[in-house]
Amino acid sequence: MIFEEEMHMLDGKKIILRSARLDEAEMLIDYLKNVAGETRFLMSEPDEINYTKKDEEQFIDEHNQSKDALLMLAFVDGEYAGTCSFESKSGSRRKKHRAGIGIALFQKYTGFGLGKLMLKRLLTELKNLGFEQAELTVVSNNEKAYHLYKSLGFKECGIISNANKYDDGTYADDIFMVLKF
Ligand SMILES: CC(C)(COP(=O)(O)OP(=O)(O)OC[C@H]1O[C@@H](n2cnc3c(N)ncnc32)[C@H](O)[C@@H]1OP(=O)(O)O)[C@@H](O)C(=O)NCCC(=O)NCCS
Repeated sequence: MIFEEEMHMLDGKKIILRSARLDEAEMLIDYLKNVAGETRFLMSEPDEINYTKKDEEQFIDEHNQSKDALLMLAFVDGEYAGTCSFESKSGSRRKKHRAGIGIALFQKYTGFGLGKLMLKRLLTELKNLGFEQAELTVVSNNEKAYHLYKSLGFKECGIISNANKYDDGTYADDIFMVLKF
C-alpha cells in the first residue's frame, strides 16, 4: 500500500514519512548494507545483502501495490534516515489478522524519537486496516529496541535461545513480541 507523504517536526528537525519510490531502489540497497554493518541486531551481515536493482524495484513495487504490506521511509531534514515496514502473515485466512513489522534506522538518526514516531504511525495504520495484532522479533541484547517496543505495549511471548550465531562464534537469543490491538 501507499503511505501518502506526511510531515512531522521532531526535536527541531523536519521529518517526512512516505512510501518508497521505484527510483530509490539503489538507495535502499546501500541502506541495507550500511545498517546491517552498523549493529548486530539485524538479520544478516552486510556481505550477505546481494539484491540487484531489479530485485529491489520488485520489492518496492510489491509493497506499494499490496493491500497488506507497506514500506515507510523517513527523511530527516531531507536526508534518508531509515525504513519501517509491515507485511501481513497472510497466505491463509487463519493468519490474515497478524502483521509482522520491522524497523531499522541509520545510527546517525537514532536516539531522538524517530523510531517511536514511525512505529506509532505504522501501528495506527495497522489498526485502521483491521489487523488484530502486530508481531516482531528482537535480538535479546537490543535494549533500546526492546524498551521501545515495551513502551508501545508489545509483550514478550517467547524466546529462541542462540537464534543468532555471529562470525566471531558468539550467540544471541531472539525474543518474539506481540501487540494485540
Ligand atoms: C531500534 C530503533 C528502531 C529505535 O529507534 P530510535 O529512534 O533510536 O528510538 P527512539 O529515540 O524513538 O526511542 C527509544 C526509546 O528507548 C530508550 N532508550 C534509548 N537508549 C536505550 C538503552 N540503551 N536502553 C534502554 N532504553 C533506551 C529511549 O529513552 C526511548 O524511550 P522513551 O520513548 O521511553 O523515552 C533504532 O535505534 C534502530 O534502527 N536501531 C538499529 C536497528 C535495530 O536495532 N532495529 C530493530 C530491530 S528489532
